[in-house]
Amino acid sequence: MATHPGGLTVDTVAEVDTRPVVRVRELTRRFGGRTVLDGLDLEIRENEFVALLGRSGSGKSTLLRALAGLDPDVAGEGEIDVPANSSVIFQDARLLPWQRVLANVVLGSTGAAAFRRGAERLAEVGLAGRERAWPNQLSGGEQQRVALARALVSEPRLLLADEPFGALDALTRIRMHGLLRELCQRHRPAVLLVTHDVDEAIALADRVLVLDEGRITVDTAITLPTPREHRHPRFLAYRERLLAALGVDQPPTAAGVGPASASLGVGPASASLGVGPASASPDGRIATEEVSR
Ligand SMILES: Nc1ncnc2c1ncn2[C@@H]1O[C@H](COP(=O)(O)OP(=O)(O)O)[C@@H](O)[C@H]1O
Ligand SMILES: [Mg+2]
Repeated sequence: MATHPGGLTVDTVAEVDTRPVVRVRELTRRFGGRTVLDGLDLEIRENEFVALLGRSGSGKSTLLRALAGLDPDVAGEGEIDVPANSSVIFQDARLLPWQRVLANVVLGSTGAAAFRRGAERLAEVGLAGRERAWPNQLSGGEQQRVALARALVSEPRLLLADEPFGALDALTRIRMHGLLRELCQRHRPAVLLVTHDVDEAIALADRVLVLDEGRITVDTAITLPTPREHRHPRFLAYRERLLAALGVDQPPTAAGVGPASASLGVGPASASLGVGPASASPDGRIATEEVSR
């Protein structure tokens, strides 16, 4: 609580906790005659980690690109309020092959302080000593770590990530999950992680959204402690709920018996979308709910 002259009392903690860092109102995006985002509303608060799920082609990347300001020529309307200091990370690391690793991290910045910050971020992603390597001397996972270091070097208030682990093998992806969680706890950006992997969303996010028919149709807080155990009954309950919302049929499973692959964070075949046929929400209503414990 802070008391200002004149007797005004303000709960500064609540103020900080609830102020949205992203505010989207009535966002519409069209390609040709097709409406991909249809009056979408979204808020993300400071330091909140939000995962966005949706079938392939549901408009996840379209939303992320709109937030990143990467769609100037796309038809549509709506209000988008995002911090100026935002970073984007994609499935491919998009490193400049003619620049060494550290130069890729500090891209655009010069001076000793920038290079020192870049070297710190590289150490945080486990690549100390690789500053002078060329991108093609790194594995795919290492290149994605460089991209993560680059995304965080400016201490962004918002990190936008579009399927950043989609091209990585299962074990590398698990390591990247741990790394991303750790780095976000340290640097505290708000995060919007687009993924088609339900397990990844539950493992990492404070809130999971489902995009369907151009709108957010599910908005669910994930209240599991971290690190999150994939076999935890509530993890399985979240998964079941989200897969159902995504229209993915699931074979019946005995309570508490998770598929072996789920404990690796890979997720069973059914947890990966891209094939989900049905509408998540036939009545089009937003479901803001908590999976029962
Ligand atoms: N630049 C574009 N031109 C035409 N159609 C596009 C463009 N970008 C996306 N689309 C279409 O919009 C829909 C949503 O695409 P996208 O946002 O990439 O989906 P997602 O990321 O959820 O798989 C798809 O049908 C896609 O073909
Ligand atoms: Mg996409």
